[in-house]
Amino acid sequence: MKLARLLLLLCMACMGRVWAVPVALGPVTQSAKLANGASLELGGLGGNLRIEFLSGGIVHVAATPPGVSALSTGAMLAQTPAGGPLDFFDDGSKVFLRQGGLSVIVIKNPLQVVVMRDDGSVLSADLPGGMLWDADSGLVIGAKFTAPDERFFGLGLAGGPLDRRGRLMLMRNTDLAAYSEFSNPLYSSTPFFYGQRDGKTYGLYVDNPSTTQFDLGQQWTEVLSMASQAGSLSYYLIAGPTPAEVARGFGRLTGNTPLPPRWSLGYLQAHFGYASAAEVLGLAQEFRARSIPADAFFLDLDYTDRLFTMSWNPATFPDPAGFNAQMAGMGFKRVNILEPLLTVFDPLWSSYASAGYFATGPDGQPLITPIWMGEVSWVDFTKPAARADFKSRLKSFLSTGVSGLWADLNEPAANQMPYARFDFNGEPRLEYATRNVYALLEVAALHEALTEAQPGVRPFIVSRSGFAGMQRYAANWSGDTDSTFDSLRVQVQIAAAMGLSGQNLFGADVGGFLGAPNAELFLRWLQFGVATPLLRNHSTNTSPLREPWRYGEPYTAVAKATIEWRYRLMPYLYGLFVQAERDSQPVLAPTFFHFPDDPATHTQDGEYLLGPSLLVAPVFTEAATTRSLYLPAGVAWFDYNTDQRHSGGQQVQVAAPLHQLPMFVRAGSIVPMGPVRQFADQLVDEMLLLDIFPGADASFTLHDDDGVTTAYRGGAYLDSLLSWTEGSSFAQLDVSRAGGTLAPMSRVWWLQVRAWGAQPPARVLADGTLLAHAASPAAMGEAGAWFHDAASGRLLVRLP
Ligand code: GLC
Repeated sequence: MKLARLLLLLCMACMGRVWAVPVALGPVTQSAKLANGASLELGGLGGNLRIEFLSGGIVHVAATPPGVSALSTGAMLAQTPAGGPLDFFDDGSKVFLRQGGLSVIVIKNPLQVVVMRDDGSVLSADLPGGMLWDADSGLVIGAKFTAPDERFFGLGLAGGPLDRRGRLMLMRNTDLAAYSEFSNPLYSSTPFFYGQRDGKTYGLYVDNPSTTQFDLGQQWTEVLSMASQAGSLSYYLIAGPTPAEVARGFGRLTGNTPLPPRWSLGYLQAHFGYASAAEVLGLAQEFRARSIPADAFFLDLDYTDRLFTMSWNPATFPDPAGFNAQMAGMGFKRVNILEPLLTVFDPLWSSYASAGYFATGPDGQPLITPIWMGEVSWVDFTKPAARADFKSRLKSFLSTGVSGLWADLNEPAANQMPYARFDFNGEPRLEYATRNVYALLEVAALHEALTEAQPGVRPFIVSRSGFAGMQRYAANWSGDTDSTFDSLRVQVQIAAAMGLSGQNLFGADVGGFLGAPNAELFLRWLQFGVATPLLRNHSTNTSPLREPWRYGEPYTAVAKATIEWRYRLMPYLYGLFVQAERDSQPVLAPTFFHFPDDPATHTQDGEYLLGPSLLVAPVFTEAATTRSLYLPAGVAWFDYNTDQRHSGGQQVQVAAPLHQLPMFVRAGSIVPMGPVRQFADQLVDEMLLLDIFPGADASFTLHDDDGVTTAYRGGAYLDSLLSWTEGSSFAQLDVSRAGGTLAPMSRVWWLQVRAWGAQPPARVLADGTLLAHAASPAAMGEAGAWFHDAASGRLLVRLP
C-alpha cells in the first residue's frame, strides 16, 4: 500500500499515467439548494459535490470522495457569500445555478460542471466525467476542456515561458540548487493561474496543499487537468474579466502582502561565511565609509553555536546584544537565519523528541534524515503544540535585538521522506499531504513570535519555501541560483511569475548564490535587483566576497549609483506596496497583466512592469551592448535613459551600456523620487522630485508613515494624491490630502517634466503665483522658480 502510493507519486512526476487508475466521481443523485449555492450527492461510490458563489465574482467547486476530509491549507481567508438572489433549477438531468453574474451548470451523468459569465463566456468546462478519483490512493483529478487560444500564466516559482500551456507542473516544495529554466518543482508552490480565453481573464486556484500536478495541455493539447494526491478536489474560479480583478479575487481568498517595513525595501547584504561579529561590524562600517546605501545584514549559519537552534557562537559572536546595538547605531537591521530542524546534537533534540514535536517515521519515532548539515529531525510545524513551543523559545532569542528572520530549508529540504508523518492539527498525515504547507505554518509561528516580541513593529521574515497565502507572513526568495547569465535570465521569468502569485515581496540573490560572478554579471544582476521588490546580495561560502565595492573601479561607482537609484525610487516603490496591501495589485507583473488585450504581451517573459509605470528590461546576455524589447500597444513610452518617446505596439532596440538598466516609462506617469539616503529611515533633508512623463493625465498616491510600525493601520499616515492633467495650452499638477491623520512633513518639492519640448513654457504658476524663470537649476531658491533646458527638452520646477 505504501509502495503503491510512492509509485503513484513518481508517476505523477513523470507522466500522466494516473489516467489509468481512477474511476468517475458521479453521477449526481440528489441536489439541494444552499443559501449561496448547492450541495449535490453523488451516486455510485458516493461522495459530495458542493458549489458556492462568493463575493467578488468567485465560484468555489469542491468534490469530496466518501470518507475523505478536505485538507485545509490554513491559507484561506473567511469567505463572504455572494449577495443577491440565487437561481436554482433542477430539471432532472441538469442542475442550473446562477448568482452575481455567474452561472454554473451541472450535467448529472456523466458528471460535468460548466461555469460561465452571464455574457456566455466560459470560465471552466469539465470533460464529461472529468472529475475522477482513486479511492485506494486518495488521488483526485479534475479534467477540463481548454479553448485553442487559451493561455495560462502564473503558477508560482518556475522559469520558462510566461504561458505555461503545454507543460506539466508539479506543486511539491523541493530543495533544488542550481536549477535551470524548466526545473520543476522548486522551493515553493502556488497552485493558482491566470487563464486568458476569448479576450477575457479568469483565475483558477486549487485549494489543496497535497502534492498536486497541473497538466496544462501537455498530454492532450485540448485538456487541462489538475490532480491532487490527497484531500478533496477543491478549486476556486475567479471571473475577472481583467487581470486586476483576478488579482483582487486571489487576494480575497488568500490575503494580501502587508506593507513591509521600509528598511526591507532597501539594499540588503548577506553572505554565507561572514565569520564573526567583528567582520560584520567592519563591513557595516565600510558601507558607511564609502557612502554606499544599505539597510541590513543577514546572518547565515555562521552566527550559531555548532548549528544549534537559536544559539549564538560564544567565540565569534560573544555579545549578541552588544553587536545588535552597535549595528543599530549605524542604521543596520539584522536578520538571522533560522532552520526548521534540530541536528541530533542539538541540546534541545531529546526534549523535542520526547514531547513529540518532530515529524516521525512509520515506527512513531522522530524521523532522522541526513542533509548537508548532518543528521537532523524536522520540527512538526503542522502540530499546534510544536509551533507554540518553538514560538516561545524564539521570543526569547529575539530579545537579543534580532530585527527579522530568514527561514531556510523549510521545503522541508530533505526531498525524499515519503513515510514521514506529520500531526496535521491532530490528524496524522503523510508527508505528501502536508509538505506544501509546512513552510507556511512555520512562518505563521515565526510571524507570531516577532509580533509578540516586538509589539507594534511590522514583522520581517524571508522564507525559501512557501505556499499560496504565504504573502501574509513572509517574503520569499528564489533559492540557490547559479552565478550565470542564463540563471539571471531565468530569474527575470520567475520574478514575473511570482508577481502573478500574490507574493509581492520577492527577489533573487544578487549575483547568483553559487559561484563567482564577474563584474559584468554582478552589475547586470544588481540592475535587475534594484528593479525588483526584494534586493538582497547573497552568496555561498565558497563564493568570493561580493559587497558592492569588491570589483574595484569603475564598477564600484556603477554599483553605488545603481543602489542609490533604488533609494531614490523609494517613494514610488513604497506607494506600490500600499496598493498591494489595499487592493491586491502586484508590485511587479509581466506586461500581460497591464496589457492583456495586446496579444504580443502574452509571450513577453524577458521584461516586466514595476508598478503601472516602469517597464524594465534587464540585460541578461553576456557582453550585450544593446537590448531589444517590446513596448505594449495602446500607449506611448519614454525611454527612461534618453527621454525619447516611442509609440507602443512595437519592438525597439536601445543602447545598453554596462552602467545602465534599459527601462521605459508609460506616457502619463508620475514617478515620485526621494533623496539618496544611507538607509531607508535615515533623517536627511526631505526632498521629493515628481518625475513626470507627460502625454496623458496621470496620478499617484504618495504614502508617508513612520516606516516601521503598524500605526498606519490606525490612521497614522498621510496619503497625498498627486494628479497631473494636460489641457490644450497648459499642464497642471494638483496635490491633495487623500487620507490619514499625519501632518504633512516639511520637504522641498520639485517637478521634472520630461520631454516638455524645445520651447519653454510661457508662464509657470504655483497656487496662482507666478514663479520666476531661473538661469540654472542651482539658482532656484526657496521662493520657487523654473528652469527649462532646451537641449534635453526637460522642464524643472522648484515649488515654493
Ligand atoms: C541554503 C540557503 C542559502 C544559505 C545556505 C546556508 O542553501 O538557500 O541561502 O546561505 O543554506 O545556510
